[in-house]
Amino acid sequence: MATVHRVVFGDCRTMKEIPDRSIQLTITSPPYYNAPFDYPDLFSDYNEFLTLIQDVCHDLYRVSAAGRIVCFITDDMLVKGQKYPVVADITRLMLQAGFRYRDRIVWVKPKGYVRISRRSGVVIQHPYPMYYYPDNIQESILIFQKGRFDYSYVRDLSLRLLEKSRIPLKDYNGDEWHLTVWNITNVLPLGLRLEKGIAAFPEEIPKRLIKLFSFHGETVLDPFLGSGTTMKVARELGRNSWGYEIDRRLKKIIRQKLSCHQPDSKVEFRLRQESKKPRPSVSRRQVIAHS
Ligand SMILES: C[S@@+](CC[C@H](N)C(=O)[O-])C[C@H]1O[C@@H](n2cnc3c(N)ncnc32)[C@H](O)[C@@H]1O
Repeated sequence: MATVHRVVFGDCRTMKEIPDRSIQLTITSPPYYNAPFDYPDLFSDYNEFLTLIQDVCHDLYRVSAAGRIVCFITDDMLVKGQKYPVVADITRLMLQAGFRYRDRIVWVKPKGYVRISRRSGVVIQHPYPMYYYPDNIQESILIFQKGRFDYSYVRDLSLRLLEKSRIPLKDYNGDEWHLTVWNITNVLPLGLRLEKGIAAFPEEIPKRLIKLFSFHGETVLDPFLGSGTTMKVARELGRNSWGYEIDRRLKKIIRQKLSCHQPDSKVEFRLRQESKKPRPSVSRRQVIAHS
């Protein structure tokens, strides 16, 4: 089955190019607020970040098909000594947009390459209560659902499609996909990597989620496409995809990531002519303020 992959260079807060209810699965990782290494000062404040997420959640509800899944890969973020509750806030905004909370997987990264930071090392200098600030080696995979899935859909699928969508049980049991903790090596921040400075997630994450939550030939969306990891894996697994990315400079990297020869699929790039970044009204900004 031929697949189509559409990259839109534009702001994902309105994904007007995508028809209503046409997306079966979303996998995405928004900027980690003003993460010190990848996104310092991207947002003027935390409220501006939440406003973006709120807008995206609403449009995700519009584009998602009934009963289908949206996954956010994210975590709380330490910025200038202050920890921001990103996981709780995204969960709240997704519920407000109308989604059901379905599950949370904890993605654990190898601890081998983390050295005790200045933050967690304070206890070594002051081995007394109240000096404890741990180093983070996890992220959350937040799983939301638009209503409930109608399983008669599966019964009506052709045997060929069903077979192509079969989840390999040796991966499921062997790699322990059935647990709420997934141990997966992250994309290491090495000098020459394609994903340098993008905070990409490893391919293993969309690979698992696409197999677990979409059927062959369906459509997967990533509103914060970055280097194009979700799209690459969707293409390899015979799914269609949409991706949004605001930074046009990533076109070359996305193209490179999608460069493997797959005769049965087509990649399209669209450049949206955007006016000024839309600003939310004051009252809406106040509604989502977390403190
Ligand atoms: C954490 S990265 C995503 C990395 C991606 N998962 C990967 O594996 O490469 C977040 C991306 O969202 C993009 N972005 C930020 N704001 C956006 C917006 N309003 N619309 C679309 N993309 C946006 C950033 O430029 C960045 O590339």
